[in-house]
Amino acid sequence: MNKVWAVVVGLAWLGVLPGARAADNTAPWRQKAAECEGCHGPGGDSTISSYPKLAGQNASYLEQQLTDFKNGTRPDPVMSGMAAGLNPTDIGNISTFFANQTMSPAGAQGSAGAGALGRTVYREGDRQRGVLACMGCHGPAGAGTPPYSPRIGGQWARYVQQQLLAFRNGTRRNDPSGMMRTIAAHMTRPEIVAVSQYVAGLGARPAHP
Ligand code: HEC
Ligand code: HEC
Repeated sequence: MNKVWAVVVGLAWLGVLPGARAADNTAPWRQKAAECEGCHGPGGDSTISSYPKLAGQNASYLEQQLTDFKNGTRPDPVMSGMAAGLNPTDIGNISTFFANQTMSPAGAQGSAGAGALGRTVYREGDRQRGVLACMGCHGPAGAGTPPYSPRIGGQWARYVQQQLLAFRNGTRRNDPSGMMRTIAAHMTRPEIVAVSQYVAGLGARPAHP
């Protein structure tokens, strides 16, 4: 019994036990993640619509975006500077950390009419105009299909709308094979507004069912 206890204490001391690891708030990457939380909220579950939620996002997507901010493929006045201070190991650790946090959905917005349009765009799209159903890639609850597509369910409507407009006008061009740029280019502004408000209400279920 004493021997077993000694081993447990020893492992905890070495930082091998999960509990011991989680408690380590002094690791350099964790201190950098704390800076991110200043805008993106505790655990990345942002409570302010100007900052996207990172909690529950899939890790490989976060890793790709941070790499793109750092190398200039996704230029952004704030995030390019933030990512410049991260090395690839930080990027990996920080992405895993935020991916493992729980996100609370922002909640749907807008009128019932906009809700109906948003739902149709999300679930059916309009093939004839080249608007592919969002659900096909982002999943019925918007949880994404890791590692390919990101979670958008529960994200702030304002941020989703900004990104769709940025894909549409080409200021965001880091999507693989230009898929999101093509889809957004075929969407009307009312469709973009409605689907963004609809998406914000999705994702009450666990991030990765
Ligand atoms: C001063 C506020 C601020 C700080 C600090 C900050 N961010 Fe951001 N972050 C933003 C804003 C604003 C955006 C949205 C950029 C856009 O519109 O494309 C963003 C976007 C992102 C995105 C893209 C999200 C997505 O869904 O594509 C990631 C990932 C991210 N930040 C991670 C981080 C990490 C990691 C840190 C810490 C190293 C950090 N941020 C620090 C403001 C901040
Ligand atoms: C063919 C697959 C596919 C379809 C259909 C699709 N998406 Fe995407 N979407 C992606 C991929 C892949 C990305 C990640 C792009 C990147 O890595 O920059 C993405 C990214 C996004 C983002 C950026 C997320 C963020 O956190 O910054 C938004 C918003 C988005 N999609 C909304 C939509 C909406 C709304 C629709 C329906 C009108 C839609 N998507 C249809 C594959 C798809």
